[in-house]
Amino acid sequence: MKKILITGGAGFIGSHVVRRFVNKHPEYQIFNLDALTYAGNLENIKDIENQPNYTFIKGDIVDESFINELFSLHNFEGILHLAAESHVDRSIEDPLAFVKTNVIGTMNLLNAAKNQWKNNFEDKRFYHISTDEVYGSLGTEGLFTETTSYDPNSPYSASKASSDHFVRAYGETYGLPYVLTNCSNNYGSYHFPEKLIPLFINNIINNKPLPVYGDGNYTRDWLFVEDHAIAIDLVFHEGKNHETYNIGGFNEWKNIDLVKLLCQIMDQKLGRDEGVSEKLITYVKNRPGHDLRYAIDASKINKELGWKPSVTFEEGLEKTINWYLDNEEWLENVTSGSYKDYYQKQYS
Ligand code: NAD
Ligand code: DAU
Repeated sequence: MKKILITGGAGFIGSHVVRRFVNKHPEYQIFNLDALTYAGNLENIKDIENQPNYTFIKGDIVDESFINELFSLHNFEGILHLAAESHVDRSIEDPLAFVKTNVIGTMNLLNAAKNQWKNNFEDKRFYHISTDEVYGSLGTEGLFTETTSYDPNSPYSASKASSDHFVRAYGETYGLPYVLTNCSNNYGSYHFPEKLIPLFINNIINNKPLPVYGDGNYTRDWLFVEDHAIAIDLVFHEGKNHETYNIGGFNEWKNIDLVKLLCQIMDQKLGRDEGVSEKLITYVKNRPGHDLRYAIDASKINKELGWKPSVTFEEGLEKTINWYLDNEEWLENVTSGSYKDYYQKQYS
């Protein structure tokens, strides 16, 4: 069996990728490496933990000797790298944590792969999962393509941009076989409630204020997380070596319109009168350096690999909201403890 390493598989997107690979690819032995930070949660992958082709390893990608030891124990033929510090607001508070995990952690994995594969790169692949935020902000028009210049604005996006550059540099300098994708905002189950959609669902359930940054006219391009996992599977197997693909939902929403839609659906689901949840909307101080608009041109992955989103936003949002309402225990567990301190600090 080919050994495949997936990093960050206890997080939001990583858990969907691990689940897909374990279930759809019995020919692989999947190793899920995750440090279980505040964002990592083994409950996210409980359903596959006893599968014979699955192994969990707790460890920190920043720890160089641990990574080298791991690679001395296993010959990985493929690496899907998702582990990261992922929240923009936290990067504003603690940029160095983002440099450590997103830059140094990626470097440790690149070095370990390069040393293990020792110039015999046949059938090997390093897949770096990145974000559209590296391109900076769009004005009211235009889309990010694979040739858009990098122009990151937050410590998070700067750290992801840096890691993308190192991946490319290892491809050019050492011939390391890589693929890289830059994806837009994901939503779906197991999304940690520090991000807009799960945070607002949780606050609506609990009748708490919905803190909209600035005037709410900031735009994001939303993609259902399971469609991202499908795209990742496709790019890992069929993407061209040394290529970048943009992945997006063809689905732009101004934050305020999305929040109002969420409020409407939640009122129906919770049996509340129309307009009740909208009253929770509270405009708060803007995020520093807040990017106005992200929107992806996903025509390359569509034309070359035949990928497009499989669910509409209405379907995806319905599934997502139902999941949160059916999994209140998960939501309660992840919003207890340190989450309360984070919330207090961020929103007081
Ligand atoms: P997440 O924060 O939900 O999960 C990150 C995971 O990485 C967690 O399980 C955490 O424990 C683990 N991790 C963090 N630091 C680690 C370390 N030092 N060593 C080992 N594991 C560590 O993130 P996510 O939203 O699932 O994002 C996954 C990847 O996809 C990231 O690289 C992110 O930049 C990228 N991405 C995210 C989105 C999005 O909308 N969420 C969109 C595009 C790209
Ligand atoms: O575009 C891809 C990126 O999407 C990923 O790389 C990041 O990991 C992921 O966190 C996400 O970044 P955003 O900053 O776009 O996501 P977030 O959910 O934090 O915010 C979405 C929008 O909602 C953004 O315009 C800020 C706004 N917002 C967010 C929060 C948490 C609010 O108005 N209020 C809030 O409380």
